[in-house]
Amino acid sequence: MSNATTDIVRAVCPGSFDPITRGHLDIIARAAAVFSEVFVAVGRNTTKNYMFDFNERMRLCVDAVADLPNVQVAPIEGLLVDFCSERHARVIVKGVRFGSDFDYELQMSQLNRQLSGVETVLLPAGSEFGTISSSLLREVAFNGADISPFVTAAVNRAVLAKVGR
Ligand code: PNS
Repeated sequence: MSNATTDIVRAVCPGSFDPITRGHLDIIARAAAVFSEVFVAVGRNTTKNYMFDFNERMRLCVDAVADLPNVQVAPIEGLLVDFCSERHARVIVKGVRFGSDFDYELQMSQLNRQLSGVETVLLPAGSEFGTISSSLLREVAFNGADISPFVTAAVNRAVLAKVGR
């Protein structure tokens, strides 16, 4: 019989993280407070043009979660459900900012559950960084404004270097 006090439940927080933001970190930290172990799964979305290459996105994620002891960063090579199976992770955790996020995540969660039985937990985005996105921050930085409130110091430096400041 399951013993809720000793069960290990691993969770996966997937994304492109181009770059990782404080909004992502809020979701990752909250997942890490609920689940035994959290894998930050860094993937390639073939429909996206990235600002940071894969190794840069991985490195910035590793740096950003360094103070969360039960969080690891790993690449997704194929399907997210295979990544979860290989690591015995039963749950995918995603943040939801607004209705369009929910529509997208509902479709993904149903497909992933049909493929492998993995469950998806949707966390409402925190109020402070609720509606930021990597793409908006990239646009803001390209146009010369300060994104430092929304990212770690290392990410801010990396973005400034990319935009030539
Ligand atoms: O929302 P994002 O940041 O574009 O997500 C990127 C990523 C890599 C996490 C996502 O595209 C993904 O899960 N890729 C793995 C391939 C996969 O499993 N696709 C089917 C999902 S139902």
